[in-house]
Amino acid sequence: MCGIFGCIVKEGQAAPLIHASLKRLEYRGYDSVGIATMQDGKISLKKDQGKIDDVNRLLDLDDLPGNLGIGHTRWATHGAPLKVNAHPHMDCTGNLVIVHNGIIENFSELKLELENSGHVFVSKTDTEVIAHLIEEILEKKPKLKLAEAVLEAVKRLDGSYAIAVISTKEPDKIVCARNESPLVIGLSKNGFYFASDIPAFLPLTDKAVFIEDGELVSLSATGYEIRNIENSKVVTRKPKIIDWTPEMAVKQGYMHFMIKEIHEQPATLRNTLRLQEHYLDLISTFLDRANEVFLVACGTSYHACLAASYMFSKLAFLPTYPVYASEFVEQHGKSVNIDSTILAVSQSGETADTLAAVTCAQQRAATILSLTNGIGSTLTRVSRVYIGQQSGPEIGVAATKTFTSQLSVLAQIALRLSKKRGKISQDEMDHIEERLEKLPDIVETIIQTQEEKVKQISKKYKDAKIFYFLGRGISTATAYEGRLKLMEIAYIPSIAFPAGESKHGPISLVEPGFPVVFICAKDGTRKTLISNIMEMKARGASIIAVIEEGDDEIKELADDYIEVPKGVPEVLSPIPYAIPLQLFAYYITLEKGQNPDTPRNLAKSVTVK
Ligand code: BG6
Repeated sequence: MCGIFGCIVKEGQAAPLIHASLKRLEYRGYDSVGIATMQDGKISLKKDQGKIDDVNRLLDLDDLPGNLGIGHTRWATHGAPLKVNAHPHMDCTGNLVIVHNGIIENFSELKLELENSGHVFVSKTDTEVIAHLIEEILEKKPKLKLAEAVLEAVKRLDGSYAIAVISTKEPDKIVCARNESPLVIGLSKNGFYFASDIPAFLPLTDKAVFIEDGELVSLSATGYEIRNIENSKVVTRKPKIIDWTPEMAVKQGYMHFMIKEIHEQPATLRNTLRLQEHYLDLISTFLDRANEVFLVACGTSYHACLAASYMFSKLAFLPTYPVYASEFVEQHGKSVNIDSTILAVSQSGETADTLAAVTCAQQRAATILSLTNGIGSTLTRVSRVYIGQQSGPEIGVAATKTFTSQLSVLAQIALRLSKKRGKISQDEMDHIEERLEKLPDIVETIIQTQEEKVKQISKKYKDAKIFYFLGRGISTATAYEGRLKLMEIAYIPSIAFPAGESKHGPISLVEPGFPVVFICAKDGTRKTLISNIMEMKARGASIIAVIEEGDDEIKELADDYIEVPKGVPEVLSPIPYAIPLQLFAYYITLEKGQNPDTPRNLAKSVTVK
């Protein structure tokens, strides 16, 4: 997730406006920044790695000539956060520059094709291919207008993008296009703006036109034109008046970052399906060769590891050991060795316990692999291979989109390893891969159909003094995560354990009305899980069940239930089944009058690049 902004203004310079607007978009990414402007048919460009204020101190971003320009604030997905990978990116001639938010899936193929035609690439980004692709089209068809060349180029892109292009060929224009990454146009008396989010231009105008997927926009000093990319037809759309305060705008109208980030999950899961094959291959090759594999993490990331240990076992017959990072040194510090492989999972890539575990393993010559959201973080610097969770900055302290993104990536690694090892049938593999592709839609359906119901259930249980969260098999990890969410933001003591453990102690706490949340994904554990529900029910517990849609047997037993669409394979179930639990924690916290974004005594590690 990156932030883009640009403008054409009648009075004043573009650069100071772009600089100020990027600052308002910094919550979308902050590892590098760049601005390009146009004056008298010449492009001027400044960019560097680092936060906007630091880069500005070095480069004076406002000091760029011209009333037209584009800017970018980056959250790295392809290529480390270095100056060379900062946007804007140029074509070979330097006469065309581009900013981009999104992920181009087929960039490797396009890059090869363009390199074979003589284009020289300087960065490791997926974005740079777009600049060269447009350049190539214009070389072959010099009579094309810039907008037509961009239109032709974006038809060749697979993936997500909101782009903005300027070229000396038409120095008075900005051409933008959108697919699956946000893009909005701002209209004011002084000119036109584009941005990935409203807050970027809210102090300049409250009049906005939302661009939809598959649309291209040409901006000039006198107006804008939207066209459909597929059929080139002009689209007319009325501007909307935005009545958000700047604070609301940053949260896109949501009350809290946590609920915004819960709602972002269909989009962030789509991003996880755009991983570079090369890294999935590398990581699964290292895991395949390892003698022992430790999955090391803290908090929510640890729960993702716990779920992943079931995935690796069931799909690839690979035994792995999920370990709390804070325990790793004591538990395995002496035995970890050159034949050990550590897969460290950390949203920030900076959590001290995770880094300590990794350092210990590295000193004993173990192989370090990692999964993180912080490309360029300390963890990526010490890893032999790393892969990104690609979910953009997470501001709510309680991790939500982190959990589902990490699980999606870990499932893809497990599937890749399974293919290498030939452990499951092709039919099963095809089925799981097909369902994985559908998960963003499934998660969307859960949010759309179950949120109101979860809200009502939260009202009913808001005064409960304690909760149990129980599951079996991979759902044990989901139960742990549901419990952590509720406990950390609603401050309600909660306990999670594998449902099979109930009768070995925990059941003694249960008395009439004791709320027990059961995670009831339909899998091989179902029969025994139903027995556990009945044991709890017999002691008067109130059963809240997260069930597969239409599971009448459990509906009958439950006091309250939340439904997840049918047909999610067992190994993927923590992704959709976690959503109602995140919503439950959020709404109970609101019922209790607390702020879910900033739970007391807790802080999130921040990626240091
Ligand atoms: C904790 C946070 O401090 O760190 C958790 O409260 C988080 O939400 C955990 O899951 C691990 O963080 P990271 O960045 O290593 O995934």
